[in-house]
Amino acid sequence: MVLCSLQSREAGRGRRGVGGADNYLGAGLCNPPRLVRENAPELNSSVRQRLSATILRAYGSSQRTRSRRGQDLARFSEGRSSLGVRQGLGVATRRRSRLGCPDPAMSGLVRTEPLRGEPPLLVRGDPYSVVVLLQGYAEPDGVDDAVRADGSVTLVLPQAWGSASSHREAPPEGGGAKTALEEAARGPILVDTGGPWAREALLGALAGQGVAPGDVTLVVGTHGHSDHIGNLGLFPTAALLVSHDFCLPGGRYLPHGLGEELPLRLGPGLEVWATPGHGGQRDVSVVVAGTALGTVVVAGDVFERSGDEDSWQALSEDPVAQDRSRKRVLGIADVVVPGHGAPFRVIREAPQPRN
Ligand SMILES: [Fe+2]
Repeated sequence: MVLCSLQSREAGRGRRGVGGADNYLGAGLCNPPRLVRENAPELNSSVRQRLSATILRAYGSSQRTRSRRGQDLARFSEGRSSLGVRQGLGVATRRRSRLGCPDPAMSGLVRTEPLRGEPPLLVRGDPYSVVVLLQGYAEPDGVDDAVRADGSVTLVLPQAWGSASSHREAPPEGGGAKTALEEAARGPILVDTGGPWAREALLGALAGQGVAPGDVTLVVGTHGHSDHIGNLGLFPTAALLVSHDFCLPGGRYLPHGLGEELPLRLGPGLEVWATPGHGGQRDVSVVVAGTALGTVVVAGDVFERSGDEDSWQALSEDPVAQDRSRKRVLGIADVVVPGHGAPFRVIREAPQPRN
């Protein structure tokens, strides 16, 4: 299964990518914000954003994109869209000969493969190992489009945890968020907690790793949805980073400056990235480098699951931002832990030379 093309973020690193084969997404996904910016620069930013989101929704599937691009643009511009988007698409339609993706022959490709194994899935690493304690899911449940779901729960375990050197000390007064975060990350770090209905399963999974709730020193909540942070109450002695809110036990909140261009360092090769989109502007992901499988990104609902390229947009507060976040994650991840499915590997293929 292939998720996405890499284009804008990766161009400078030689990983431009737009797929063409059946199992490669991206033949038409292109980069809607860039297409709109380049083809309709006269539109204001709000209309450009809406137009980008519409194009993204319309062209989420590679197979249909090339044949339907012009037809869809014309239909949208005839009145299926709101006024601002219609105006924008009218401009885009007039210029649609320029609305093309880069030549796939010059592009690298990104595809994914399931990571085999049942939870708890352990990916050993130095200095951090990653254990997927509970695998998230989302499945139809009866009528009325109801869905039964819970979020993935992942443990990041410092190799040194348990040794004398990892003994946690209270962060020094005035040390600021940077010091406090790095101190908090010296013990077991939980990324998301599942919903409150998963309380017993979570406690059991932690116990299976020899970790008591009181051992957890940092809980990262990727975003504020109930199926991801429903068990924060199990960890009153842990520091909490939920979305962009960082607080120490007792509710002492510290500013930290996290942004898309400014990750938060937790330790060697361990960072929190701002990955906005799904739940709004303040979603985060945890990046763990140096595992046996390379870099693991625990991505919350930036990815619902492998193969979600036609469905994530409907659940997104900001599809343009989320598209950007997905590309950033795919640009660095060797393994992604998605919010509602099994972990998957990310495999990049080298750009093909033009014939
Ligand atoms: Fe969510």
